[in-house]
Amino acid sequence: MKKIAIFLAAAALFSGIAFAGEKEEAIAVAVADYLLSARDVLSNNQILINDASKGDKGFTPDVYEKQVQVRFLAAAGIDVKSLTGKENEELHKAIYKIHAAAKEVIAEAQAQINEKGKGFKWFNPAVFGRRVGEKLQASGITVKQTSLKYRNDKNKPDEFESGMLKKFEAGKKDAHFEEAVVNGTKMARYILPVHVYKGCLSCHGDPIGEKDISGYAKEGYKEGQIRGAISVMVPIKQ
Ligand code: HEC
Repeated sequence: MKKIAIFLAAAALFSGIAFAGEKEEAIAVAVADYLLSARDVLSNNQILINDASKGDKGFTPDVYEKQVQVRFLAAAGIDVKSLTGKENEELHKAIYKIHAAAKEVIAEAQAQINEKGKGFKWFNPAVFGRRVGEKLQASGITVKQTSLKYRNDKNKPDEFESGMLKKFEAGKKDAHFEEAVVNGTKMARYILPVHVYKGCLSCHGDPIGEKDISGYAKEGYKEGQIRGAISVMVPIKQ
C-alpha cells in the first residue's frame, strides 16, 4: 500500500511539474494570435491612415474593434467584444487586457491618425504593436515584436529570441514554446516567426540602404523571408 501511495504521490508531483506551464502556454499563444490579428487590421487600414488628403479617417477604437473581432474569432475562437475582464479563465482575462490596451492605443493615436496634409504619420503595425506591449507590461505579460535586423532598440532580441530568430531564418523551426527563468521569474515563453509580404517591401525591401517613407534604411528583405518574430512571456503561477 505504502509503495502505491508513494508512487501515486510521485506521479502527481511529476505531472504537476510537466503541466505547470500549460495554462500559461495557452495564454501566450492566444496573446501572440491577438497581436497578429491586430497587426493585420492595422495593415489593412494603412493606406487610409496614410491618406494626406483626408482629415478624419473614422478609424476609431470601435471600428478597430469590429475588424479585430472578426479576425481573432477566426484565429482563436474568442469573441473579444463579449469579454468583460471578469471571466474566470486567466486566458480570457489576458485577452481582455490586450484588447483593452489595443483600443487605448488607437484612442490615443486619434490626433496622429487624423492629421491632414501628412502622409506617413508614424502609425503602422510595428509602432502600434510596440505601444500595446508597453501598456500590457503592467499585467506582467510581455509581448514584443523583434528582429535580428531591428530598427528600434526597444525591439532588440534577447539571447533566447536571437537564437530562435536564427533558427527561423535557417528554415529549421516554426513557432516554439519553452519554460525559462527570466530575471528570477519562471516564464512561459512563446515565439513565432513573422514573414515578409508584398505590403512590407516598400519599407523593408530593396534596394538595401535606401530610405523608406519612415526614414529608416530598407533592409533588402524578399517576399516570404523571415522579417522577425512575435515573442510573448507569461509568468507561471505555481
Ligand atoms: C511604412 C513602412 C513600413 C511598412 C510597410 C512595414 N514596416 Fe515594419 N517597421 C517599420 C518601422 C518604422 C519599424 C520600427 C517601429 C518601431 O519604432 O518600433 C518597423 C518594425 C518592424 C518590426 C519590429 C522589429 C524592428 O525592426 O524594430 C517587425 C517585426 C516588422 N516591422 C515587420 C513588418 C512586416 C512583417 C511588415 C509587412 C506586413 C512590415 N513590417 C511593414 C516600418 C514599416
